[in-house]
Amino acid sequence: MDRQARVVQRAVFDCGLNNGPVARRSVTITQMAAITYRRLNTLEEFFACETLQKDTWGFADLSVVPAHLLITFEKRGGIVVGAFDQVQLIGFVYGFVGFQYGMPTHNSVMSAVRPEYRNRGIASQLKLAQRSQALKQGFSLMTWTFDPLQSLNAYFNLSKLGVIVREYFPNLYGTFRDEINKHMPTDRFGVEWWLDRPRVKSYLETTPAAQALPVPDNGPQLGSEGLLLPGKPPPLGASPLHFGIPLSIDELKQKDLNAAMQWRHHVRDWFQAAFAAHYLVHDFAVDRQRKLGVYTLSQVDASDLLNEVL
Ligand SMILES: CC(C)(COP(=O)(O)OP(=O)(O)OC[C@H]1O[C@@H](n2cnc3c(N)ncnc32)[C@H](O)[C@@H]1OP(=O)(O)O)[C@@H](O)C(=O)NCCC(=O)NCCS
Repeated sequence: MDRQARVVQRAVFDCGLNNGPVARRSVTITQMAAITYRRLNTLEEFFACETLQKDTWGFADLSVVPAHLLITFEKRGGIVVGAFDQVQLIGFVYGFVGFQYGMPTHNSVMSAVRPEYRNRGIASQLKLAQRSQALKQGFSLMTWTFDPLQSLNAYFNLSKLGVIVREYFPNLYGTFRDEINKHMPTDRFGVEWWLDRPRVKSYLETTPAAQALPVPDNGPQLGSEGLLLPGKPPPLGASPLHFGIPLSIDELKQKDLNAAMQWRHHVRDWFQAAFAAHYLVHDFAVDRQRKLGVYTLSQVDASDLLNEVL
């Protein structure tokens, strides 16, 4: 895709987030000066990380990644970074050494920020700290997964960090035991964050402000109960394509589990076909008014995309 087209697209994509000016704004400025970011290094801190997992996901003991594993990751090439308010652990991100495309990678597993500290850029700072530690250890690719129906994660990963997605794993973990994932098959996108490529650097340096949102080609429809239902899937062939999802799948799930399951299958079928047709996902936009999130996919060479400076 030519650079000019990307610049225009990106300006268009991040719309609906706020009514601010069109100028770009920095995402790397620490919004809470008192919060510090560093690797965990005491037993108490690793145990605090267990508690934070339980508080975030409502995990039963069986699902918590225990302190002894986190310590082992930290000692053997993995990275466990915490966000601290004074001495209290209020956020974390961790991962271990993985392998993909014939090279060692940092495979990030979980990140969380305490609810009362959210939307202040703390997860972004944690991710930046994780990236700089991974680069220091010689990794150029970080991977992880996220639920394609979780719009906050989609926005965070695609719009703020500049990841790309070209893998879909249906029901990857089977039935999960936590509150967030309860009742739904655990479908996941496989994320690639190419840490030192020009595109990622430019996403980290700036983020575009609001403008008009692209209209999703699959046109999600409001059903008779006022629930957002999947429309017709966009035909493959054109590039780029825009695919809409509900802004809050959790709200929809609470109102009507069947509607949420319809979305699960709609997204699964369409993205698997799109990835088989060599599309990759590279952007996500949020329209709060219409309660929609919109993915953008293109049939583009990943290497060309990653070399772009926006
Ligand atoms: C995902 C999570 C770690 C983000 O933490 P955070 O510190 O709030 O993240 P940040 O403040 O750095 O960025 C959040 C961004 O998402 C935006 N956002 C908030 N709610 C949103 C929504 N429903 N849809 C889309 N974007 C949303 C915020 O406005 C913010 O963007 P901005 O800085 O451009 O305004 C946190 O919400 C969390 O712990 N969630 C539960 C656990 C989880 O899902 N972990 C990730 C998978 S393992």
